[in-house]
Parts: sequence; C-alpha cells; structure tokens
Amino acid sequence: MLFPEYRARRMRQNEAFRRMVRETELSVNDLILPLFAVEGRDVQNPIPSMPGHCQMSVEHLVAKVREAAAAGVPAVILFGLPDKKDPLGTRAYAADGIVQKAVREVKQAVPDMAVITDVCLCQYTDHGHCGMVAKGVIDNDASLDLLAKTALSHAQAGADMVAPSDMMDGRVAEIRALLDDNGFTHVPVMAYSAKYCSSFYGPFREAADSAPQFGDRRTYQMDPANAQEALREATMDVEEGADIIMVKPALPYLDIICRLREEIDLPLAAYNVSGEFAMIKAAAAKGWIDEQRVMMETLTAIKRAGADMILTYFAIDAARRLKG
Ligand code: PBG
Repeated sequence: MLFPEYRARRMRQNEAFRRMVRETELSVNDLILPLFAVEGRDVQNPIPSMPGHCQMSVEHLVAKVREAAAAGVPAVILFGLPDKKDPLGTRAYAADGIVQKAVREVKQAVPDMAVITDVCLCQYTDHGHCGMVAKGVIDNDASLDLLAKTALSHAQAGADMVAPSDMMDGRVAEIRALLDDNGFTHVPVMAYSAKYCSSFYGPFREAADSAPQFGDRRTYQMDPANAQEALREATMDVEEGADIIMVKPALPYLDIICRLREEIDLPLAAYNVSGEFAMIKAAAAKGWIDEQRVMMETLTAIKRAGADMILTYFAIDAARRLKG
C-alpha cells in the first residue's frame, strides 16, 4: 500500500473514523488498585513520593475500597505494614496480621471487590529481604514454606487471589500445593513472574518500609538486561500452576509484555510501579506534562503491548475518566 493509492490520514480525519479503527481499548475492567494497610486507628500517612496515596489503617482502607468500587475498579491488591519486624517475618503469616485483618474487613464491607494479596516477606523481615537470610545470603528453599504459609493465611482471611512477589524459585508450586491441601483449590495465584531488579520501586519502598537493610535484590530479582530469561521465569510459573503471570515494572519492559503475550497462554498482568507513577506526578506538578493525558497514554500503551490487566496507582483516576 503506497501513497497516493493509500492515504493513512483518510481514516484519521474525524473522531468517528478514529473510533472505528481503534485497536486498543482501555477499560475499567483492566485496572487493579494497590493499597497499603497499616496497624492502628485513624491513620492516614501521606506517601510524599506518591501524591494522593497514603498508608491507611483498616477503616480508611475500607473507605478507599468503596471509592474504588464506586469508580468501577474490579480489584485491589493489598500490601501490609506490620507493627513489628523480625528475622522470620512472622507477622506476614499471623492470623491477626495487618493484611489478614484488612482482607476480612474489606470482604465484609465490599464483598464484590476482588481482593488480591501481595505475598512477600520484605515488609515483615527486619533485614528487609523477600526471603530468609542465612549467613548473609537469601536462602531460597528455607523461604518457600513461609511464603506458602503467608499465602494460606491470606486465603483463610478471605483473599480472592494471592500474588507472590518474592522471586524465590519454586514458590508458586509450594503455594499451590498448600492452598490445595487446605481446601483453597479455587484461589488463583497471580505470579510476579518477570520481576526485574528495578530502581523504579523507590517510592514503594518508602510507602511499604521494605528497603533491604543490607545488599540489594540482585540475587533474586531479574537483571534488567535480560529478555530471554523472562520466558524461562514465566514458563516455570505456568508449569508450577500459576493462573496469571505478571511483568513488573511495565513501561521500561513493554518488550517483555509483548513477548510473553505471544509465548504464554495465560492472562497477563503488568505492574505500572511506584516510580512510573511518581515520575508522571512530579512532571505534572511542575506543569511540564498534562497528567491526565499522559496517564491515559501510559495505560493504553501497557494494554497495547499485551497486558490484560494493569496494577496501577492511577486506577481510581483512570476509571473515573473512562466512565466519564
Ligand atoms: C515487594 C514488592 C515490591 C513492589 C511490589 N512488591 C518492591 C520490591 O521488590 O522491592 C514494588 C511495587 C512498586 O514499586 O509500585 N516484594
């Protein structure tokens, strides 16, 4: 098709034509809102690097979930800030832990909201790593049991789905088996499969107080330079029983989303992470970009790359814009 027989601009000349040929449609159904639950009463600590977001005690978190539901958002993912940390991350799998409490309250107040829980140990361990530490290294196999216990305790509290973000090898199988043994065969696992060791998590670590106290996460999270390896990670999670696979972060890894969409026959999630959110907010606050338009362009791009669902701090804003 060559000019002048083909004129690309013909189908762009009015909004009706543009709508007719539009290939990607972002929907409220694609959005998942991350929330941070903290112990205490009447707590709403603003997170400076994530404008509009707070660490919230459970009653405020429930109110936020109602707001999300009213905007049409179908799901939230919960992160917890415990009252105390220890080497084994025991508050991660305590029946009266912060996420477990938040799940119970949210499910009671807004039963139709799908509640996903992030399964990891870094917010709960005093060393801030996502697994157990033995002699200064992150012990993969010793972590699996605790991660599975955490997932089970979330399911017992009423979580609709669990999402392991730790990047230990073999955790999906371990979680699936423990859930099944305890009658939770219906609870899906959303696996953070291709989770990169990214500097875009900075604001989140402030929000969740989960920065590693020594070293970094390079021995378990993926090297940003690797693409082929993402396929191996995702394939491993599929074979271990994952129901949804995830790529994280989203924007710097659109190629990975695209690649996994083609190769993996499971629903695909992408995490539009805290640093991606913070960059847009910061530039918008300076008046350098149009926040609403950049937000919609960003989310549309992630969908266009192949994501079926997007975890994003913009979920409520974007849902309102899509509805209105
Ligand atoms: C914890 C976890 C992280 C994020 C989600 N789960 C941070 C990390 O790996 O250090 C990041 C989310 C974000 O940046 O928005 N395992």
